[in-house]
Amino acid sequence: MENLKTNYLGLNLRNPLIAGSCGLTNSVENIKELAKKGVGAVVIKSLFEEQIQYEAEKVIKNNTNELSTTNRPSQTIFNRRIYDYDEAYSYIYDFAKRNTLGKYLYFINEAKESVDIPVIASINCVSNQDWHSFAKKIEETGVDALELNIYILPSDMRRSGEDNEKIYFDIINEVRNYVNIPISVKIGYYFSSLSKSIKKLSQTGIKGLVLFNRPYNTDIDIDEIALSHGPVYSTSEEYTHTLRWISIMAGQVDCDLSASTGVHDHKAFIKQLLAGATTVQIASALYKEGFNAIPEILKGTSEWMKKHNFDSVDSFRGKLSKSNLENPAAIERVQFMKLYSGIE
Ligand SMILES: Cc1cc2nc3c(=O)[nH]c(=O)nc-3n(C[C@H](O)[C@H](O)[C@H](O)COP(=O)(O)O)c2cc1C
Repeated sequence: MENLKTNYLGLNLRNPLIAGSCGLTNSVENIKELAKKGVGAVVIKSLFEEQIQYEAEKVIKNNTNELSTTNRPSQTIFNRRIYDYDEAYSYIYDFAKRNTLGKYLYFINEAKESVDIPVIASINCVSNQDWHSFAKKIEETGVDALELNIYILPSDMRRSGEDNEKIYFDIINEVRNYVNIPISVKIGYYFSSLSKSIKKLSQTGIKGLVLFNRPYNTDIDIDEIALSHGPVYSTSEEYTHTLRWISIMAGQVDCDLSASTGVHDHKAFIKQLLAGATTVQIASALYKEGFNAIPEILKGTSEWMKKHNFDSVDSFRGKLSKSNLENPAAIERVQFMKLYSGIE
C-alpha cells in the first residue's frame, strides 16, 4: 500500500480517512470495527448541549409526576413551570448535566482504550455556557483531540451577522482557556463573509477546521400537510460545495482543514485531498455502503496514487488548491455561462 500517513491536529494518522461524528460512532463495538476496517481516526458522536437540557427536563417532569401522586405540600420546589430558571431547575439541570456528561466520559474513556488510532471527542455547543468545564473533563479521559461542533442558523432577524459569529469565537476562547489537547471546530457555511470568517477562526489557536457540517434539514409532507425531515444522508453528488471551499481556503489558513459532506468513494476522497484537505471525514457512506466503504476508499486511493506515481499523500495534497491553480478564478465561478459550462 502507498504511504497514506498524515499529520492532522498534530496527531499521526495512518491515513487521512476519518469516521466522522454520527450515530455509528456511538458505540465501542463500532469504533473497534471502524479501526479494524482501516480509518485513520474516529470522531465520537457529539454530546449535545440541547440533549443535556432535554435530560434535565425529563428528570423534572418525572419528579413532578411522582410528587403529584403523593401527599406533598401544595407548594414544592418541583411544582413549578420547568422553564423557570429557578433554584430547583438549576439544581436538577446540574444533576442531569453531570449525569449525562458522566456517561459520555465513561464511553469515550472506554473507546479510547479499545483502539490504537486517535479518538476525537465531539461536543455540540449552542452557547459558551459551561463548556469549558466539560471540555476539561473530556480532556482528562486521555482522548486525543476535541472537535467543537458549532452550527448557528442565522434565522433570528434581531441578530446581526456579527452577533452570530461572535458565538463561535466566545466558545473557542472559553474552551481553549481550559484544555491543552488539540481543538478542531466543525462549522456550517452561514457566515456573512465565509472566507474571512474561516481565516479568523483559524487564527484562534485551534488546530483544525472541519468544512462543513451537513445540517439536519426540514421538509414538507404534502400528504399530511405537515413538516417532515429532509434526507438524513448525503448523496455522492454533494461533495462539490465542500470541494470548492477547501480549494479556496487551503494554504490560506493557520490550521488544518478537514473535508466533510458527500464523500462516498475514493474519487471524491482523492478530489478533496487534491483540493488541499488534510483529512476527509465520512458519515453517510458508512450508513449507506457499510463499513466496507473504508477499505474500498483506501484501496482505490492507493491504486490511483500508484498509477500517477505519487508515493505519499503529501506529494499531491493541495495540487489543485486555489493558490496552486493557473487560473484561480475558475474555482470561484458560480454562473452557468455557456462559455464555461457548455450548457445553454
Ligand atoms: C445520522 C447522522 C448523525 C450525525 N450526528 C452528528 C453529530 O453528532 N455530530 C456532528 O458533528 N455531526 C454529526 N453528523 C454529521 C456528519 O458528521 C457529517 O458532517 C455530515 O453527515 C456530512 O458528511 P457525510 O456526507 O459524509 O454524511 C451526523 C450525520 C448523520 C448522517
